[in-house]
Amino acid sequence: MTKEKFPIHAQWSNRTAFILAATGSAVGLGNIWKFPYITGENGGGTFVLIYLCCILLVGLPVMIAEIMLGRRGKQSPINSMKTLAAAEGRSKAWKWLGWMGVIAGFLILSYYSVIAGWAMSYIFKTASGMFLGATADGVNSIFKSFVGDPERVLAWHTLFMVMTMVVVSRGVKNGLEKAVTYLMPMLFILMIVLVIYAMTTGYFEQGALFMFSPGAITGKGILIAMGHAFFTLSLGMGAIMVYGSYLSEDYSIVQASIYIALADTVVALLAGLAIFPVVFANGLQPGAGPGLIFQTLPIAFGHMQGGTLIGVMFFVLLVFAAWTSAISLIEPAVAWLIENKGHTRVYASVVMGFWTWLLGLGTIFSFNIWKDDTWSIPFLFHNMHFFDTLDYLTANIMLPLGGLFIALFAGWIMRTSSSKMELNTVPAIYKIWHFLVRYVTPVAVIIVFLRAVGAI
Ligand code: TRP
Repeated sequence: MTKEKFPIHAQWSNRTAFILAATGSAVGLGNIWKFPYITGENGGGTFVLIYLCCILLVGLPVMIAEIMLGRRGKQSPINSMKTLAAAEGRSKAWKWLGWMGVIAGFLILSYYSVIAGWAMSYIFKTASGMFLGATADGVNSIFKSFVGDPERVLAWHTLFMVMTMVVVSRGVKNGLEKAVTYLMPMLFILMIVLVIYAMTTGYFEQGALFMFSPGAITGKGILIAMGHAFFTLSLGMGAIMVYGSYLSEDYSIVQASIYIALADTVVALLAGLAIFPVVFANGLQPGAGPGLIFQTLPIAFGHMQGGTLIGVMFFVLLVFAAWTSAISLIEPAVAWLIENKGHTRVYASVVMGFWTWLLGLGTIFSFNIWKDDTWSIPFLFHNMHFFDTLDYLTANIMLPLGGLFIALFAGWIMRTSSSKMELNTVPAIYKIWHFLVRYVTPVAVIIVFLRAVGAI
């Protein structure tokens, strides 16, 4: 049906280009900034275990489904869902799934860009040598005074949004592929260097035990672990669907998904192993919150051999990783504006970039002038400020909900013959996948939702 119909968007130039771009989307602040701090806040071991189970049993099947829907639909998520539903003789209402994704991506990017801005400013802080010989208190007060100053953070947030929209306005393909080829492996090597440093602190074992030995967890903690599995793999909002729509027919979706999920998980675990030993070696709190990596890694850079150079490289690569993720957060919205409103790519990028930038102000203020403005909704959340609310709403509610519907669509709405043909894999693997998206993923998401609100 839609196979040759919508050639408005580019195709990846070769097989590895798709894997690279999708890995670039998956590996980002979620792995290095978010995973450690939510692991710290939720008590470590059990949280990590649940996260890993969710990657395998929920994330991976949804990723396969999402890429598959994208490749079949060949358009922005909204239009792909509409076309695919029509092709199966179902309601056009499925396009709302695409809409929720567009909105989620926009909301996430608004705060993602602010945090990427923090990381950007840390390139220069590290380069200036201000962390040399730093103490935990010193690093902490540098962080607090930085995020406490809205104007400085705004400048970095603005710069990051401009960088993102420049790439998006030129089309996701140009330049991105090449950059990812070199910079991703470098990031990987640097993470290993940091883990090696962590081994010299004398607290490596304590850090590793914190991450891998089971402890207590709350229903909320389980929801956060599951939400993060979606977040870190860029699932549930159409980002990977859009990338899949630029994928040619002869590529094994299952194989690509396994590769992406594996790379993503390894980076997150390395980040944890680099950070927690430093946390314990310096008597810091694992539950310090969103500032965790900014309050721990500078101590490591300030004390290790060649720390300034390594630190600068680390933050450069972190910003780069955030950049390749940010692009995929806004691409669904831009693709839709191009298809449906007839805008040029440049115009669509500028419009989306502006609104995202504006909403980002809320996150900036959450760490200074709105710091004490928190609110609660019974059963849902407690004492959250603007940033917490956005993060919770998107990562823990919208993405899992998006993932649930993607699984339901791929498992129940789409004819078996269609999905079999599209995935084109070994029968046994197809069967396992089909079982997972039909039963395991939907049931898991629903149970976790119910538990989080205390209903079971
Ligand atoms: N996965 C990215 C990270 O871990 C963030 C991201 C990019 C994302 N695109 C997404 C999250 C789409 C959810 C949905 O940093």
